[in-house]
Amino acid sequence: MCGIIGVVSKKKSENVMPIVYECLCNLEYRGYDSFGFATVNPHLHVLKNVGAVSKFINQDNFPLKGSLGFAHTRWATHGGVTKANAHPHTDCTNTIGVVHNGIISNHHELRKELIKKGHVFRSETDTEIVAHLIEEELKTTSDFELAAVSAVRKLVGSFALVIGSSNFPDVLLAFRKESPLIIGIGKDKFFAASDVISFLKYTKKMIPLDDYEYAILSRDGYMIKDWRTMNPVNKRPKTVNWDFEMAKKGDYDSFMEKEIFEQPLAFRESFYIDKPTLKKVVQTLLSAKRIYVTASGTSYHAGLVFQYLLKELANISVIPVISSEFQNLAIVDEETAVVFISQSGETADTLTALRYVKRKGGKTIGIVNVVGSSIARECEATLYINAGPEIAVCATKSYLNQLSVLYQISFELAKHRGILGINEIEALEDQLKQLPELIKLTLGSINRKVSEIAKDIQYLSKSFYIGRGIGVPTAKEGSLKLREITYDFSMSFDGAGELKHGSISLVDSDMFVVAIVQNDETYDDMIGNIQECKSRNGKVITITSNPTSELIEKSDYVIEVPEANPLLSPVLYILPLQLLAVYVTKLRGLNPDRPRALAKSVTVK
Ligand code: AGP
Repeated sequence: MCGIIGVVSKKKSENVMPIVYECLCNLEYRGYDSFGFATVNPHLHVLKNVGAVSKFINQDNFPLKGSLGFAHTRWATHGGVTKANAHPHTDCTNTIGVVHNGIISNHHELRKELIKKGHVFRSETDTEIVAHLIEEELKTTSDFELAAVSAVRKLVGSFALVIGSSNFPDVLLAFRKESPLIIGIGKDKFFAASDVISFLKYTKKMIPLDDYEYAILSRDGYMIKDWRTMNPVNKRPKTVNWDFEMAKKGDYDSFMEKEIFEQPLAFRESFYIDKPTLKKVVQTLLSAKRIYVTASGTSYHAGLVFQYLLKELANISVIPVISSEFQNLAIVDEETAVVFISQSGETADTLTALRYVKRKGGKTIGIVNVVGSSIARECEATLYINAGPEIAVCATKSYLNQLSVLYQISFELAKHRGILGINEIEALEDQLKQLPELIKLTLGSINRKVSEIAKDIQYLSKSFYIGRGIGVPTAKEGSLKLREITYDFSMSFDGAGELKHGSISLVDSDMFVVAIVQNDETYDDMIGNIQECKSRNGKVITITSNPTSELIEKSDYVIEVPEANPLLSPVLYILPLQLLAVYVTKLRGLNPDRPRALAKSVTVK
């Protein structure tokens, strides 16, 4: 979940360190416990500290200079948040520097062996062993590449590594196993980074490394090889259709607000899915005997909506399982199809589930945002959601675009299954096409009211989010948004009916309850649940497209969203909940883009 970057300029006279700094700032959303830089000029110079890099260093007066550099922003796993544990880590001779994303699981054994050989360690991290291992290998070879490959072969676990040495001043080596690493091919520079957003300003041409691959980036060019054999691998660069401008905050206070308000535009992009792939996905699902959907966090909530959609539209049963429990719960064989949903395409839990399904011979379908990411590449068929770069840790626009792609799959399945008439399906397709306008309208009409409600409830630090039917995933997603960035205790249920089986005992005047009231057959039962919470003095915020006098009377606040077919309503009902989370966070003086202990891409299990 850390971010790493390496940059090599073809021109020896160019100072790339301000660019390394810029690229690292673009990776800060992956972790911001500490940061560090290294360059070779002519010795290995390292600069590191705790905290977020953008708070400490000014790009214009960047203290290091060099035509090659690498850097790291850390989300601590092994070892506390200290300067000593910040990357880059170096060997005993201070000539080899390493930055790393991932976890090296055999680092204890390797460290013991290296200490026996006389190596002195300066940090508690798993990463430092890599520098010492290379130092050890260089005692028997003068070939930097061979020494690094031999060291990497000894590592167990997951890693993306960028390695440089003052004894080999014209080259950076970048290795991958199970942690993302993308090579960027610029006009006069090469990059190795945890994601493409990092170097997007400089190039859109990229090569995602696969497991067991490494890149040699030098002034003369780049080469990709397999570190098991050291044989070259022929890979063609891809071009990403994202713009650097899309990854900027613009006039908004936070990326999260920017991404919420760009949802009408982003949602439109989700309609441009690849039709042949959609056809393949539909055929795979139609021929499967058992279907699972698996994902984590917000993406899992999109999967829950998919479950309702396929039941209602196609009479198909889908079993949702969170990725981290997938192997414990799912029965997978050749007749099983599994849908993997992920914004980043790199979530370790989801990737592990995907590899498990492949080993068992199941069919794999990806719904992914980041082009060329591991999940996107490893699934047999992947549909991209086209949400553009999502920087805020809190997922917003990617959720809506995931829903859109899941609607499109569901409508196709509905046509094949004949449960609904073609006219009904076409009406739903038309409504889906109108949603960008409705999203815009909703954001405009509720914004002020939600910010006022946020002021009123900001002192209540407990909340329940409740819904029924297709409102359940919305309640879960709204509650996740709030607790993720406000750090308040917020809970949601597998159905509002569960309240009376225990949790209602927590409702009192210190709590607010968000009720998702759909205009469907769940309406009356939701009124009952609101009544129960009110009689225990909870403050009730109702989200509905049907603000009846009964609802207005029983709720403390009613936020009205436009009427849409109940199956499409999750797209509109989540909007006030995204805004509520962001406004409460701002009122508390917290940064919605920087929730403590969280990172955008969770590449550890
Ligand atoms: C959402 O706001 C969270 N940051 C988190 O739950 C996220 O959805 C989850 O980690 C899954 O990420 P993915 O979609 O990139 O796989």
